[in-house]
Amino acid sequence: MQNLLVTGGCGFIGSNFIHYLFRQSDFTGRIINLDALTYAGNPENLTGIAEAYPERYVFVKADICDAEALAEIFDRYQVDAVCHFAAESHVDRSIVSPDAFVQTNVVGTFNLLQAARERLDRIRLFHHVSTDEVFGSLGKEGLFTEETCYQPNSPYSASKAASDHLVRAYHHTYGLPVTISNCSNNYGPYQFPEKLIPLMILNASEGKPLPVYGDGSNVRDWLYVEDHCQAIWQIMTRGRRGETYNVGGDTELPNLTVVETICDKLDELTPGAAPRRELITFVKDRPGHDWRYAIDFSKLRRELGWTPSESFQSGIEKTIRWYLEHREWVERVRSGEYQKWIREHYG
Ligand code: NAD
Ligand code: TYD
Repeated sequence: MQNLLVTGGCGFIGSNFIHYLFRQSDFTGRIINLDALTYAGNPENLTGIAEAYPERYVFVKADICDAEALAEIFDRYQVDAVCHFAAESHVDRSIVSPDAFVQTNVVGTFNLLQAARERLDRIRLFHHVSTDEVFGSLGKEGLFTEETCYQPNSPYSASKAASDHLVRAYHHTYGLPVTISNCSNNYGPYQFPEKLIPLMILNASEGKPLPVYGDGSNVRDWLYVEDHCQAIWQIMTRGRRGETYNVGGDTELPNLTVVETICDKLDELTPGAAPRRELITFVKDRPGHDWRYAIDFSKLRRELGWTPSESFQSGIEKTIRWYLEHREWVERVRSGEYQKWIREHYG
């Protein structure tokens, strides 16, 4: 893998992955970061990378729905591997306007697969980053394994499920060397503050209400983003081609516990305000809200020796500190200021 195309590299996990590859992995090649810079894509997540690695990093603003642009990029940069993050990723947005989810997640993934298939002799790997949400919702018992039937419930998870099936089919039908990872909920630096953890950190630190959907009993399995990046790289370098790997954090928590933990940590780190738990407000539930996700990642542990290294207590403290120390990043993201910068630089 000398010319690795990373799609969605300006988003939350993609930018963490690029930092990880350059600073913490044995990757020696070049990264071509392809991103359309939607509301969730922020080049400021990669500040310093182009300067630190001028020979080994290229950014290209492009849309994965544009098949012609993809063909040109695959050839111009002699792409020989793909790590595909680009997606519309927020469930609440998918409920309000599913169109972009079908376009980017399904049609965009199809376009990338086509570009790879047309260059089969050169492509060493197509890694597809997906979610545990494709498996649907669990009751009190059980865990998602790689054999669990797909039962996506939201437009987001349905579009990711469709893309997973396309990736698998391109391996089975055309022999494209693929790997797929289905991961649980991530948290950490650079996450757009519409998702539960950064939203709660920022609202709580500003004394604003903390909107918990329903009764807060819904359970998610939380994974620190750097652990996810490490798992993806291990799968890409040592995983069996054509295989799917579940990635999880072994940290099942009800939403209310997550929010209370954030409140208590903030009280400890920035004392003085009234107890943040008083800001918790139960609001109308999300339609079709999946009750519980929980991942069995024993295949990844058995075959590649991967386990998460960050505990929730240490990971959430790091994350809270990161958001408190990056107020400027937060303000530019929330005000849309970074979008003005993107228009000035990229049109
Ligand atoms: P994100 O929303 O933070 O970032 C998505 C990135 O994709 C942005 O940079 C955006 O500009 C880019 N993008 C969107 N549409 C595009 C298009 N048409 N063409 C090119 N670029 C486009 O998402 P994230 O949380 O970093 O998630 C990355 C991937 O990981 C997604 O595929 C998501 O389904 C998957 N995933 C996320 C989580 C999680 O907890 N965040 C968990 C499991 C899997
Ligand atoms: P989210 O971060 O949107 O991730 P996902 O829906 O992909 O799991 O939400 C995580 C959980 O938190 C989910 O059960 C919905 C809930 N939630 C709230 O209770 N309040 C909020 O404001 C948000 C954004 C999410």
